[in-house]
Amino acid sequence: MTASPIGRETDRVDGPLKVTGGARYAADHRPEGLVHGHLVQATVGRGTVLGMDVSRAETAPGVLAVFTPFRPLPLNPPSPQQSGENYSALQDTAVRFRGQVIGLVVADTPERARDAASLVTADYAVTPSRTSLADGSPGVPQGVVQKLAPGVTSIDAVLASSPVTVTTSVSQHAQHHIAMEPHATTAVWVDDQLTVYSGAQAPQRAAATIAARLGVDPAKVRVICRYTGGGFGQRSPVWNEALLCAAAARALRRPVRVVLSREQVFTAIGHRGAVRQTIRLGADTDGRLLALRHDSDGELPAAGGWQMMPGRDTSAVSYRTPNIRIDQRLVTLDTPPTWSMRAPAEAPGTFALETAMDELAVLTGVDPVELRLRNYATEDPVEGRRFSSKHLDECYRVGAERFGWDRRQARPRSRTDGDWLIGLGTASAIYPAWRQSASARVRFRDDGRVAVSSATSDLGTGALTVLAVVGADELGVPVGTVEAELGDSALPPGGVGAYGSSVTTSTVPAVRAACRAAVEALVRAAVDEPRSPFAGFDPSTVRYRQGRVEARGRSVDFHTLLRTTGVPQVEAVATTEPDTASPYRFHCFGAHFCEVRVHRLTGEPRVDRFTSVFDVGRVVNAKATRSQLAGSIIWGVGHALMEADPIEPDGRFAAATMADYLVPVHADTPAIDVHWLDRPDPHISEFGAKGLGEIGLVSAAAAIGNAVFNATGIRVHDLPITMEKLL
Ligand code: MOS
Repeated sequence: MTASPIGRETDRVDGPLKVTGGARYAADHRPEGLVHGHLVQATVGRGTVLGMDVSRAETAPGVLAVFTPFRPLPLNPPSPQQSGENYSALQDTAVRFRGQVIGLVVADTPERARDAASLVTADYAVTPSRTSLADGSPGVPQGVVQKLAPGVTSIDAVLASSPVTVTTSVSQHAQHHIAMEPHATTAVWVDDQLTVYSGAQAPQRAAATIAARLGVDPAKVRVICRYTGGGFGQRSPVWNEALLCAAAARALRRPVRVVLSREQVFTAIGHRGAVRQTIRLGADTDGRLLALRHDSDGELPAAGGWQMMPGRDTSAVSYRTPNIRIDQRLVTLDTPPTWSMRAPAEAPGTFALETAMDELAVLTGVDPVELRLRNYATEDPVEGRRFSSKHLDECYRVGAERFGWDRRQARPRSRTDGDWLIGLGTASAIYPAWRQSASARVRFRDDGRVAVSSATSDLGTGALTVLAVVGADELGVPVGTVEAELGDSALPPGGVGAYGSSVTTSTVPAVRAACRAAVEALVRAAVDEPRSPFAGFDPSTVRYRQGRVEARGRSVDFHTLLRTTGVPQVEAVATTEPDTASPYRFHCFGAHFCEVRVHRLTGEPRVDRFTSVFDVGRVVNAKATRSQLAGSIIWGVGHALMEADPIEPDGRFAAATMADYLVPVHADTPAIDVHWLDRPDPHISEFGAKGLGEIGLVSAAAAIGNAVFNATGIRVHDLPITMEKLL
């Protein structure tokens, strides 16, 4: 009897390959005749390229070609459905932001390409850049979400007449994804068939985008990304650099590789947009909300990008309140493109909301956990739809107990440890649970293995292992028997995009359905194949159990059966759909509890420990779950204390290296106690997984900020919380 691996600790199936260097990433593919491209970027913030001098680059050693707006590679403009930038590189002379691609130099080695790229010069007509949210605020309204109690005509009137009011304005600068693997593309044409090795969060969508932009038959484009070193949203679109790489390979009739430098990862492709938000709360004296208003101005680059609208998935779904208004605006700036970045709207949005809730707790004297329970929502406050499952109250209870919340003192500066001020803080997390239509293929093979395939991606999350674990569980075979496969647009259509914390939620039902269909196909083969020991049996008398086919006292394992019958493999593909008619709202929840210390003399903030409890539905792999959630919390430390990249008036990022743009290292990482409830969601799928890639980051920064206030009595509204703000 094989015990179910669901919810247990499973090592990732690709771990040995990754640590031994056997996993080949986009830039590890070395086709015969490979040459190397390097980008040339605009050095002004906005304007027009008047002319470029490529003569020194063209004659530099090893150079094969220099492409510019004056000698372009043909690319189609993006269609409105395609994400990312709203223009194609080299097709015009406009400069939309500093760092925009204005050239590609191709040479025989990466070093020679980079060297020659540095020899290209350009003349510009420069126009002033809009780079600060203050330049354009208030931005263009994106529609108001509002629900008012009967008889109420204005939320501001309710706010003005509320016994207790809080107004909290917060801001954060641009942030960067900086995946460990720099963006890289290796493009290989064989006749009219294009293979692109490039990290992609949605390989099939990437292949379709590349085909459309290059003007080729989608059936002739294949994107392969078996291993991808992080995505976080930045690998959802296909950026110009990958398109130019494929176009250059076509023009030169040779495989071309383009690898972005670490600086180019900051400056040439999307970042998380800057945003300013104001929360206004009206409450009665015991902290019950009467009104909630959430206003935001988010960065939207003229070059295109992801729309930063933080109220929709946070304030609009978090607390019970009779009156609510969400007003999201976008400010057009001449900055590099933005793109969604892990918990893209939820991380900034909950920093605003959960900071404001902490301020309300301080003003009313209600304990922050009790305040949240008093305003607990079992349905969303705008549409009144019930949550499919919500056990956030249990998260509070379990978290408070594990953390020792009862030791918190409400008055700031009450606890010290030598020269350190100690503070405790809490915040609530919410993130949409999202299920996509998905397909999977399951194949019994005569070598004794079962292949489970889906055309999604594993960005380092453990999705590959999820396929293996779920396949093994459904078929009753050891995890090691299953060969999981993803990261290839040529796998059966219907692979889901690895974004929105949705791969497990969406793909698991498809894998389970494909397993059942494959078992049926195996049984059918067992009775149909003339050489089978079950030939001619009534299929209803034949059963599959734990890798074996059984009937009338005979029991044969599937690979022996396949070998005996001479059938090399039996397979089935299944597609599963979300219930789009469901009346429920699907969300994941969490409660963070955090302890910080702030040095009395230097103001240095340190995060000592986190206890976080999550309601994420059924969990497939405990080990990967802990790793995802803890990784997100560490990201929250960066959000709160370190990550910010202001854009100078000339369009230049203040930081474009990992020496200047700070993220937490081991020494910044607190002790993290991650816990999750065993609460499968009964409505999202039969399996009940809700997703957990992003929820850990949501409101982690607010928990830290709230703890910093408890330690110091200082409320920092403009992130990051750096030492000079605590003096
Ligand atoms: Mo993630 S920001 O949903 O790719």
